[in-house]
Amino acid sequence: MLEGRSLIGPDDFSVTELDRLFELTEQIKNDKRYLRRSCRGKLLAALFFEPSTRTRLSFEAAMLRLGGSTLGFAEPGSSSASKGESLADTVRVVSSYADAIVMRNPKEGAALLASRYSSVPVINAGDGGHHHPTQTLTDLVTIKQLCGQFSGLTVGFCGDLKFGRTVHSLASSLSRYADVKMIFVSPGELTIPEYITQGILKKNNISYTETDRLEKVIGGIDVLYMTRVQRERFLNEEEYIRLKDSYILTPKLMRFAQSGLVVLHPLPRVNEISVEIDDDPRAAYFKQAEYGMYIRMALLASILGVV
Ligand code: CP
Repeated sequence: MLEGRSLIGPDDFSVTELDRLFELTEQIKNDKRYLRRSCRGKLLAALFFEPSTRTRLSFEAAMLRLGGSTLGFAEPGSSSASKGESLADTVRVVSSYADAIVMRNPKEGAALLASRYSSVPVINAGDGGHHHPTQTLTDLVTIKQLCGQFSGLTVGFCGDLKFGRTVHSLASSLSRYADVKMIFVSPGELTIPEYITQGILKKNNISYTETDRLEKVIGGIDVLYMTRVQRERFLNEEEYIRLKDSYILTPKLMRFAQSGLVVLHPLPRVNEISVEIDDDPRAAYFKQAEYGMYIRMALLASILGVV
């Protein structure tokens, strides 16, 4: 169904195709031997022009668990990009070495450009402050596992909603499900872009509110998606320092939340969730990171055509 397809934006796959990926993820999670060695002889190139722990390592782990191999670089200084080679040339060459490419790049639109020059599927592992669709797959499968369904949920997004690409991708993807409500909590300087609210949510008749006060809305939220303030996207360090601790989820604040709340965070966490929350049964962000590997296994097996 997804064989040979690239994944550039959060809505490149239909809801039906996502359901199939979620089913496959569930099978992989429940049976660690399922699909083992299915990608033997296949190569995944991981081109990371920006730092990453989870995305790069979970893709590598996913490919190795499927019996395939990986190659690539973890920072651009070790590639010929540092000598001035264009992204188009890099991708043309690498796609003749590998069966799929996963790429993170600081420039918005870089993954789309790469897909136009690649002869193999390209997976966007984050393009600047734009999108991060495999984080969205991770977030969606975690919500599905823990809440059972998307419809009827109130999802709160808190933190840097301006630069947080995972927020943009998840809000966009969730807008395809019925009766989802969204609450956006951010300082005025870091509000969600209008292309999401006006261009996507309004168009899909999604009910949403914006506020700068987490304590006022936390009680009505089913899934709370915390995010860090994205230091690397700020032009002014003083502005970052002023805003970085705008929200810190503490046990005191959690007392106002529902007993069934699910707290997610794409990670890395800096200071926005107190470590005391880690033992709260409502904290699901480490489980979320683990699901990220299973769904990347499902994705790779699907686009490589072995399932
Ligand atoms: N969530 C996420 O993208 O984490 P990394 O930056 O560590 O890959």
